[in-house]
Amino acid sequence: MLTNADLERLVDTSDEWIQTRTGIRERRIVAEGQTTCDLSEEAAKRALEAAGVKAEELDAIIVGTTTPDLVFPSTACLLQDRLGAHGCCAMDVNAACSGFLYALGVADKFIRCGDSSKVLVVGAETLSRMVDWTERTTCVLFGDGAGAVVLTADDKPGIMSTHLHANGAHKDLLNVEVGVSRGFKPETQGGLAIRMKGSEVFKVAVNTLGNIVDETLAANNMTRSDVDWLIPHQANLRIIKATAKKLALPMDRVVVTVDRHGNTSAGSVPLALDEAVRSGKIARGEVLLLEAFGGGFTWGSALIRY
Ligand code: UT7
Repeated sequence: MLTNADLERLVDTSDEWIQTRTGIRERRIVAEGQTTCDLSEEAAKRALEAAGVKAEELDAIIVGTTTPDLVFPSTACLLQDRLGAHGCCAMDVNAACSGFLYALGVADKFIRCGDSSKVLVVGAETLSRMVDWTERTTCVLFGDGAGAVVLTADDKPGIMSTHLHANGAHKDLLNVEVGVSRGFKPETQGGLAIRMKGSEVFKVAVNTLGNIVDETLAANNMTRSDVDWLIPHQANLRIIKATAKKLALPMDRVVVTVDRHGNTSAGSVPLALDEAVRSGKIARGEVLLLEAFGGGFTWGSALIRY
């Protein structure tokens, strides 16, 4: 665990600034040698157990991540091997902070078209591996984590709809400017580090998430009052509050984990969902709106009847 007090010792920041501007108090950081696949494995096993599904029954494994263990094989392939689910389709989806929503959207389509009946969907990240720990504008924001769900085909869809979007024109506002095809030379490419123009990202995020709420409700002929829970991407409590306001939802109907997890990118929505379900907050039949926004820009939502 890394607290705001720990960060005060690393960079010129304060607990007060971090809590007021982001809502974050602490974040989890992987141990030396621990990888995204390690986190995925733990989350996947817990999800399979909760769903009563055996790994060998899976038709597909989809991992949303922007911090894979290797260039290839994909984290999904590494995970498949760990789970002993050999033979099923396995792939990673890289959509930065929207990675879990993208993976969920792909899995939902696999099931709807009849290709698959049991799909494991994971969102997992070890962002701490690419945080510049000398840069106060970013290092206070991020953490590591993973969550997972198992989708199974059913006559009554639990996932009512998913909506996925991107706009690559904003590629300069949030990125990691190091890549294989550019020669992978972090030392001459500004370091393997997340760079973000925070306040510009903030404005686009608030507007875009507001719009995707409208899009999601309209696609399902629903109104704001039909939504029981908002399970948002956990980047900043102020962004979460803006989306809750858009939905006219009181904050006790919003799942918030950003205070303890920070921004875990693709890990954040499934972590929040997992926590809310396991704590017994969410009742069967309730309507959940999941949303995320991140580098790309990418953004997405899912409307779910639990
Ligand atoms: O998950 C992917 C999507 N990401 C997001 O959605 C994140 C979106 N952005 C944000 O959450 C916010 O923009 C931040 C939390 C990153 C920053 O909050 P802000 O209210 O937009 O602050 P700012 O960037 O406008 O900076 C305000 C001031 C600046 O000082 P001056 O220029 O006003 O003197 C910064 O240098 O705060 C300063 N500052 C800090 N001070 C103490 C920036 N970082 C820190 C820090 N500690 N860690």
